Amino acid sequence: MTLKPVQTLGEFIIDRQDHFKYATGELSRILSAIRLATKIVNNHVNMAGLLDILGDHGEENVQGEKQQKLDVFANNIFINTLSQREVVCGVASEENEDFIAIKSSKNQDSSKYVVLIDPLDGSSNIDVNVSVGTIFSIYRRVTPSGTPVTLEDFLQPGHKQVAAGYVVYGTSTILVYTTGHGVNGFTLNPGVGVFFLSHPDMRFPEKGKIYSINEGNYSKFPTGVKKYLKYCQEVEGDRPYTSRYIGSLCSDFHRNLLKGGIYIYPSGTNSPNGKLRLLYECNPMAFIAEQAGGKASDGYRRILDIEPTSLHQRVPFFCGSKDMVEKVEEFMKE
Ligand code: AHG
Ligand code: MN
Ligand code: MN
Ligand code: MN
Repeated sequence: MTLKPVQTLGEFIIDRQDHFKYATGELSRILSAIRLATKIVNNHVNMAGLLDILGDHGEENVQGEKQQKLDVFANNIFINTLSQREVVCGVASEENEDFIAIKSSKNQDSSKYVVLIDPLDGSSNIDVNVSVGTIFSIYRRVTPSGTPVTLEDFLQPGHKQVAAGYVVYGTSTILVYTTGHGVNGFTLNPGVGVFFLSHPDMRFPEKGKIYSINEGNYSKFPTGVKKYLKYCQEVEGDRPYTSRYIGSLCSDFHRNLLKGGIYIYPSGTNSPNGKLRLLYECNPMAFIAEQAGGKASDGYRRILDIEPTSLHQRVPFFCGSKDMVEKVEEFMKE
C-alpha cells in the first residue's frame, strides 16, 4: 500500500491564507468553524437510525417544505457554531425566514463576513440511508462593519462570493471548497476526526456522459430541456448518455464533477423558477463549478451574474461539464 502525502484541512487553510490581500485570518476562522460544524453533523448523520433524529420535525420551513429533524439539528449546529465563535456578522439559512444578525461580545458587528447555508441538502434521503450534504457560501458584507448587518449584505450576486463549499455525508464524508483559487476536496478520517486533502485541484471533465434530472417532472419541462433529454438518449457518437439522479444536489454534483456530467433542475416544475434556491444552493455550486472549469447557467445566463432580489428566491439550474451546459443552452435558445 502506498500512502499519499498528508495535509490536513486545518494546515491547508492556514497555508492558503496569504492568497488574500490584507488577510487577517478572519476567513480562515470561518472555514474552521464550518469544519467543526460539519464534523458534528457528520457524527449525527452516521448515527441517524440510532438516535431519535429520523423523520419529520413537525413544522414547515419558509418554502413550505416539511422540515426533517435532521434539517433542524444541522441548522442549529451551523448557526450556533458560527455565532458562538463570533466569526461572522450574519447567517442566512434555508431553514430560517429571515437572516440572523450576530453581535460579537467584544466589538458589536465587527466581522466583515456573512454566511449563507443549506444546512442539510437532500432531506428526502435521510430516512433511507442515502447521501445528504451541506452547502455554504461566504461574502464580504457591503455595509460598513460596526453597523448592524442588513439584507443588502446577503443579496449579492454570486460572483462576489469569497468562498463556497459543500459537504457530502456519503460512503465517506468529503468537504469540497473554493476561495476562488481552484477547488480542493478533503476526506474525513472518522477514526481521528480529521479532514485530509484527498482531491487536490479538482476539475470537471469538459465532456461528460451523465445527466441528472428528476424525469418524473418531464411533462412540465420547457421544450428546450425535453429536446436536450432526447439528445442525451439518442444513439449517436458517444451517446446515449447515462442517467443518474440521487435527489441530493451535493451528491449529484459531486459525482458529475468527478466523472463528467450535467445537473438540471429546470423551470416549470414545482414553481416557475424550479426548486433550487439561488443564494445557498445555486450560487455556491456555480462558483465551485466555474473554479473547476465547469459552467452554471439558468438556461440563458450565467448564474453568478444574477442580481438577487430575495433571500429564498429560486432559479432554474443547469450546472456541470462545460460542453454539456453549452449544448443544453443551444436547445433552450431555439
Ligand atoms: P433540500 O433538501 O435542501 O431542501 O434540497 C433538496 C433539493 C436538492 O438537494 C435536490 O437535488 C432536489 O431538491 C431534489 O428535488 P426533487 O425531489 O424535486 O427531484
Ligand atoms: Mn429543504
Ligand atoms: Mn438543498
Ligand atoms: Mn436543505
